[in-house]
Amino acid sequence: MFTKLRPELKTILSSADLSVNDRLQNLCDLLKESVPHYDWVGFYFRNGDKEELKLGPYAGEPTDHTIIPFGKGICGQVALSNQNFVVPDVRAQDNYIACSITVKAEIVVPLFVNGENIGQIDIDSNTPDPFTEKDERFLEFLNTEVAKMYK
Ligand code: SME
Repeated sequence: MFTKLRPELKTILSSADLSVNDRLQNLCDLLKESVPHYDWVGFYFRNGDKEELKLGPYAGEPTDHTIIPFGKGICGQVALSNQNFVVPDVRAQDNYIACSITVKAEIVVPLFVNGENIGQIDIDSNTPDPFTEKDERFLEFLNTEVAKMYK
């Protein structure tokens, strides 16, 4: 599944006739449709110079959490740690922001441009404990490709 998606996402990201936001939107839609355990797929970006994240393109249910302060929730923690954060069971997390009661698990992978953490991809799953190292490697690859648009 991820092997097939790699060239597809490269094609989307190299659509020079589309805006960066439209390419990211198409990417979110592709992932949500193609990966059964991806139920919400979105990007958060650092909001200017502020110590907060702002929601970018996403696929799935609308969320109230369009702004997340650094340090808050899984996303806010990744903004500070610069590390992948895999959550097999969201109920076991104290510092977690619930977006939907159906969500069981979450993965957040930071997005680096020239070594700087500018945002992240955030994926929610309604399946318990669905994420493996394959997801991490795939999402790291994806973010490396996304970063090329910002260089
Ligand atoms: N659950 C996230 C908040 C973002 S929503 O999942 C879309 C968190 O704890 O940071």
